[in-house]
Amino acid sequence: MLILLDTANIEDIKKGIEYYPIAGVTTNPTIVSKEKTDFLKLVKDIKNVIGDNRCLHVQALGMKAEDIVEEALYLNKILGENIYIKIPVIPEGIKAMKILHEKGIKITATAVITPQQGLIAAMSGASFIAPYVNRIDNISGNGINVVKEISQLLKIHGLNSKILAASFKNVEQVHKASLAGAQSVTIPLNILENLLYHPLTDSSVDNFIKDWENVYGEGKRTNNL
Ligand code: G3P
Repeated sequence: MLILLDTANIEDIKKGIEYYPIAGVTTNPTIVSKEKTDFLKLVKDIKNVIGDNRCLHVQALGMKAEDIVEEALYLNKILGENIYIKIPVIPEGIKAMKILHEKGIKITATAVITPQQGLIAAMSGASFIAPYVNRIDNISGNGINVVKEISQLLKIHGLNSKILAASFKNVEQVHKASLAGAQSVTIPLNILENLLYHPLTDSSVDNFIKDWENVYGEGKRTNNL
């Protein structure tokens, strides 16, 4: 299982990689625009913070395959190792995926709403397929079912692409996506923190400390008795 951070906020990324087993960062044009800063500086800063061992997914904005290819080659060149170019599953995007795959560029197929979009992107060379779980749920679809069916399709047809489930609004969606066959999820820091939060865990820890300190003294720990 891989957990990626779905944010371009440097502070969240720093905190995320300090505390949690983060495999990489995903951005999209909306996420980047929230930071209201120079795009190239921002993505280079993110790259510097996460290093070469974590992956960075950056989206191309072109609406024609040729433009997407140009952007992808540019981003791949300036950002260096472990870069995935996010490309939406529109027809021009699929054409671009085929061209870029031939050139050895790593691709994440994005804005995936249906299982067949995911299948076609996988057949066109995308390494990751990103179904938008919450956006599907919001149009009265079933985001988790889409994850499940993409997982089945990849298995049935022997495709090596991985699912990078995206667009989450709560921990239950993340939990169900990881059970449904997603090999990776991308989530904002607050949802990652919510995955760990449980009041019973916190009260258990509080009680351990209280019971211990009643006997061994305030501030005492196993290594300073
Ligand atoms: O990574 C894709 C994701 O950012 C879309 O999420 O929350 O805008 O639906 P959201």
